[in-house]
Amino acid sequence: MDNHSDSDVSSQRRVHSSSVSSLDTQSTEIDDSCEDLQGSDREYILVVGGLGYIGSHTCLELLKSGYNIVIIDNLSNSFRSVYTRLENLGRNYFDTRCEPMPQIHLYVSDYRDEAAMKQILGEYVRPHTSPQLLEGEARLESRIRGVIHFGAYKSVSESIQQPLKYYANNVAGLVEFCSILNSFQIKTFVFSSSATVYGSIANSGMPLREEHCTHQEEAFSDHEGVTKTVLGGCTGLTNPYGRTKWMCEAILSDLALADPEWTVLALRYFNPVGCDESGLLGEDPRGVPTNLMPVVLRVLTGISPVLDVFGTDYPTADGTAVRDFIHVTDLARGHIAALAAAFDGRVPKGFRTYNLGSGKGHSVLDVVNAVESASSSKIPLRILGRREGDVGSCVAMPKRAETELDWKTEKSLETCCRDVCNFLDNFKRPAMPVV
Ligand code: UD1
Repeated sequence: MDNHSDSDVSSQRRVHSSSVSSLDTQSTEIDDSCEDLQGSDREYILVVGGLGYIGSHTCLELLKSGYNIVIIDNLSNSFRSVYTRLENLGRNYFDTRCEPMPQIHLYVSDYRDEAAMKQILGEYVRPHTSPQLLEGEARLESRIRGVIHFGAYKSVSESIQQPLKYYANNVAGLVEFCSILNSFQIKTFVFSSSATVYGSIANSGMPLREEHCTHQEEAFSDHEGVTKTVLGGCTGLTNPYGRTKWMCEAILSDLALADPEWTVLALRYFNPVGCDESGLLGEDPRGVPTNLMPVVLRVLTGISPVLDVFGTDYPTADGTAVRDFIHVTDLARGHIAALAAAFDGRVPKGFRTYNLGSGKGHSVLDVVNAVESASSSKIPLRILGRREGDVGSCVAMPKRAETELDWKTEKSLETCCRDVCNFLDNFKRPAMPVV
């Protein structure tokens, strides 16, 4: 997300899609009263930042898994057209199965707009009378069953230049938002975290385990089966963006400790790349990207003349930095696995972190080679020195997610590259889809 102006950002408006699967009745409406939410028993997953790169792929997987979704997005780093594509993909998926599509609601709003959030969440309240309550006493209950929060700024370089913007949105915004969720009794929360929380520990070259960064004291068995105790904290965070992710995790951990009704799963993403196999959703930021894959694609489409390779003197096989690249659809499915585990009670209440990575490392040059093969094109390179704040290697130990969430990656780097080439072909190189 970002604070670029957009005419819809300040307005809170609901776009509603019908769940009826006939094409004639499927047109998207802008309508504030199109469904009697109060009378319905339907449950929803709230997705903040649901039109962004990871958010939109997660929304698609949520729909495919049968979840009704409510998206809140301020369009600051996404486009309204993503909603239409998402809806079309969902509809096609369910049409081919002759099944009705789950509900999808969009509110164009900033998650920091307290009044708007209360109004939106108020639409999903149902009166509930619990047997434990005294006669006549009623407690409000939400039909929002869980929240996935993607609504954070994510540019490392911008965070260095404008730290307050990052702390205000990512950290202060989260605190306020959780208070509102609390008041609506919504306490199942999936947080978009990042491998950045491991800071300079990544430089050790070892696969990163969740216990390398904890917020409370934690005991674990290391790879030799020896029980170790780690204290909360982390060292070597290299930029304000990374610190916001660490702070948010710490805040959520404290919240879950104070109120045992909260279940918080912080998903530490490694390096998401690729796009939906349809090539209709993809990474389409508003600003100039700095992450490797979108920069490579700019070179491929002729927007940039050359790819700058930052560092060829790392202690890796080819000297370029190594990352754990993960297909965004695998990553999206990690969120579905996390929600399912929380709803089934397979993860304990409280705060828990999970690495979402493949456990395999690929270098910058591996990525270049894979994109060149998939596109049958040559990527011109310029070798530069190391980028400030970069680590040489960052690869996940993904065992915890596999064991506790029953999730692991399925797609290869080659598949990632093939899918992004589809995306580019669909949206006619060199112009990227901006609506
Ligand atoms: C970066 C952030 C990380 C954040 C993640 C979000 C830093 C230090 N870290 O991770 O906190 O969670 O993005 O997606 O920025 N590269 C090039 N040329 C380019 C771009 C990148 O050689 O034009 C290299 C980088 O130097 C790095 C590797 O590619 O070695 C991966 O870079 P990037 O995609 O930015 O991801 P991270 O640095 O891992």
